[in-house]
Amino acid sequence: MSLDRIQTLRAELHEHNRRYYVDDAPSVSDAAFDALLRELQDLEGQFPESFDPNSPTQRVGGMVVKSFEAVPHKRPMLSLSNSYSSEELIEFVERAETSAGEPVTWSAELKYDGVAISLWYENRQLVRALTRGDGEKGDDVSVNIRTIPSIPLTLPPDAPQELEVRGEVVYTFEKFEALNARRAAAGQDTFANPRNAASGTLKMQDSAEVARRGLSAFIYAVYSEDRQFESHRVALEAIRGWGFPTPSREHRWVESCAQVADIQAFLAYWDGARQHLPFAIDGAVIKMESTALQQRLGSTAKSPRWAMAYKFNAEKALTPLQDVVYQVGRTGAITPVAVLEPVWLSGTVVKRASIHNADQIAKLDLHLGDWVSVEKGGEIIPKITEVDHSKRPAGALPVVFLSHCPDCGTGLQRREGEAQHFCPNTDGCAPQIKGRLEHFVHRKAMDIEGIGSETVDQLVDLGLVQSPADLFDLRGEDWARLDKFKEKSIQNALDGLAASKEVSFERVLFALGIRHVGETVAKKLAKHFGSMEALSAASLEALENVGDIGPMIAASVGDYFTDLAHLREVDRLRAHGLAMNYQAAEGASDILGGKTFVISGVFTHFTRDGIKAAVEQNGGRIASSVSGKTDYLLAGEGVGPSKRTKAEALGVTWLTEEAFITWIGSTE
Ligand code: IVH
Repeated sequence: MSLDRIQTLRAELHEHNRRYYVDDAPSVSDAAFDALLRELQDLEGQFPESFDPNSPTQRVGGMVVKSFEAVPHKRPMLSLSNSYSSEELIEFVERAETSAGEPVTWSAELKYDGVAISLWYENRQLVRALTRGDGEKGDDVSVNIRTIPSIPLTLPPDAPQELEVRGEVVYTFEKFEALNARRAAAGQDTFANPRNAASGTLKMQDSAEVARRGLSAFIYAVYSEDRQFESHRVALEAIRGWGFPTPSREHRWVESCAQVADIQAFLAYWDGARQHLPFAIDGAVIKMESTALQQRLGSTAKSPRWAMAYKFNAEKALTPLQDVVYQVGRTGAITPVAVLEPVWLSGTVVKRASIHNADQIAKLDLHLGDWVSVEKGGEIIPKITEVDHSKRPAGALPVVFLSHCPDCGTGLQRREGEAQHFCPNTDGCAPQIKGRLEHFVHRKAMDIEGIGSETVDQLVDLGLVQSPADLFDLRGEDWARLDKFKEKSIQNALDGLAASKEVSFERVLFALGIRHVGETVAKKLAKHFGSMEALSAASLEALENVGDIGPMIAASVGDYFTDLAHLREVDRLRAHGLAMNYQAAEGASDILGGKTFVISGVFTHFTRDGIKAAVEQNGGRIASSVSGKTDYLLAGEGVGPSKRTKAEALGVTWLTEEAFITWIGSTE
């Protein structure tokens, strides 16, 4: 009896779910839904033998996946060829119609900017969900996909026994912003865009967290041995009937024997209207509707001959420039930032944009009140790309770059050959002092838990701390002067400082904040010289002899260690017990033999930092962009298109994560 009830409840909940998430027409209240779900959870608890991975109770996740199994696709997961102008598109349409030799019905639909997935159903049950991977094999992310409420876990009786559908997993801007806000508050790195966030989320080990994050999905392709559909439209209508979230009427357009002008109208409409969509798209896809024609035209090794993507240009918005403010970085670099009248761009409100430097202001001939064009690249902070001079208000004043530091009033300088102005008052300018301390305690540097940027602000404002070494001299009573610092937070800060004595020499070196010495350079220097003592005594020539260290970095390191104040600071840090000698990491090897790797995409067994560390620990070198010197493109899921194209053009060897692991013989 109860087992029957379990089946009934599951079916009912699946149906309510679909009405809510797919049809957007809920049929019960949230409270009634929760009551049914709780009843089902109770019953499943009493009858563990009824376990079903596709039960609605499994949507909340909870399973922890150690690693994602790589599984071959049933049919290769191709990509689309791209066009960037309507001329290219017309050319494609004409060519395709000639090959077809008959009138063609085209459709156009949105190109969702997310992560491609393939879902397999057997006996009308979801059995597997794979990422695209390398197109031949994908990662089994079923556990995480099951948490997406709009993806059906079971199909109705009129669906075929065997079915594969493909689509895109995306974040709505709302969920994406909420996720980034939570991460920023927790001191974690934020995602650059919804696509990266979706890709990262699908590869999470904790499916309960995936469930909380709230992914969405769109399904746009259907394959079945058991059922033939005469057209793409008929296929999408059928699967919508089975509960799949297909592109809505608005997001898809189809007309028999459409003229090219109709397709262009769809593209032009969405190029503008996309800014009101709740999720990101990066273009549109035009497809031949007829299944018979699709089969006849077939595919090349990479993409179908019956479809083409049209990529939009980066989104732009025009808005007036209200003001220019200046930020002082930890190295004293001055960055102008535009304050804009708030404007919608790619789903978020933009209020600020970066302008880089004084030359950029001159080049744009910026005036206050100018209407400027802002664009979002991969970065979170948009940039100004153009000025509409025709809209300049009468009497508008030109933006004049500062002559003095906005914080300490010192005259600004500019080094030869550098674009950035800087404030030379290194030891007396508060944002520089604070910036250096924040850098020192940062997760990637000394990783001092218990001391964040607010704490640094207070410590500097109270005159308690000037340099990192001062942090280690603070006593309990000093900490007690800070706002909201009670016993527990004081202990946390002290514990954090004590723990930082275990941090490796290369990170201590990075934490010092020497100009041009980022993580990678710090590692190279640490490995090459072996100790702070040897590094600080190194001649310019010796510094330049380290692989990949150019004259600019060498000069900066040389300058740093000729300053007595810096030598004293380093001595104090040494006295406090910080690591000053290089120790080769355990498990280090030279297997990769100095080959150069470019890393792209998201990996299953490694974090981004982890795979970099694995390359370096095994004697490989990391480069950030593909060039003639690159030996391997170490490719995860979602390799960047420019890296891919360049690697293909230069014939760089493509190395999958699996092959890499086999090569080095272990994972992180
Ligand atoms: S059809 C054979 N339709 O774009 C390929 N793809 O750049 C069939 N995409 O890998 C794909 N929206 O991840 C198709 N409406 C849509 C799409 C779409 C986004 C993605 C998909 C594909 C990539 C190609």
